[in-house]
Amino acid sequence: MTEFSGPVLLTKSHDFLDFDCGKEPLNTFLTRHALANQANGSARIFVGLHNNRVVGYYSLAVGSVLFDEAPERMAKGLAKHPIPILLMARFAVDKEFQGRGIGKGLFKDALKRSLSVAREAGVWAFMTHAKDDDAKALYLRMGMQECPSNPLHLYLLMKDVERVVSVI
Ligand SMILES: CC(C)(COP(=O)(O)OP(=O)(O)OC[C@H]1O[C@@H](n2cnc3c(N)ncnc32)[C@H](O)[C@@H]1OP(=O)(O)O)[C@@H](O)C(=O)NCCC(=O)NCCS
Repeated sequence: MTEFSGPVLLTKSHDFLDFDCGKEPLNTFLTRHALANQANGSARIFVGLHNNRVVGYYSLAVGSVLFDEAPERMAKGLAKHPIPILLMARFAVDKEFQGRGIGKGLFKDALKRSLSVAREAGVWAFMTHAKDDDAKALYLRMGMQECPSNPLHLYLLMKDVERVVSVI
């Protein structure tokens, strides 16, 4: 019997070398760079599995946004220091498994994980960098907002994350 499981941290025992989401940079990241990034601590990569095969993944890293480049709503009430954020840097589902709700499940898991990180260290917003307008449309649909300084950068204030998790 075949089974879906995860998301769990990517390990070398997972079957991910043939991953194909249709966007080469996202395939290359997973197949060539993800484990090294994870080993050096610059990112964490969480994968959804079908048996041992990786069917989708997202990566998380901490980051910051300069106060002067932050959307007004993000900067409101803060001192003029860089604003701490959690970045979902990459997000993809294998073509064979797209359109079945796996992306939504991964996104929701990333949001829940951001709440858990925010309980241990200051995180003001959850952010993503969309690769293109298609990806941006998806993030807007998931409740994220556009950064006026860069229309492909999307954010969600941590104070709004719980509400979004409950509706998506
Ligand atoms: C984007 C991606 C991760 C979505 O994964 P998925 O498993 O196909 O998505 P789901 O089946 O969970 O769909 C989630 C929701 O988003 C919607 N959606 C999916 N792709 C969308 C798009 N390009 N634009 C707008 N909405 C989209 C779905 O209709 C669904 O909404 P619904 O539940 O209200 O019907 C996947 O299509 C993918 O890997 N694409 C190529 C890589 C990519 O562009 N990644 C984004 C990186 S920035």
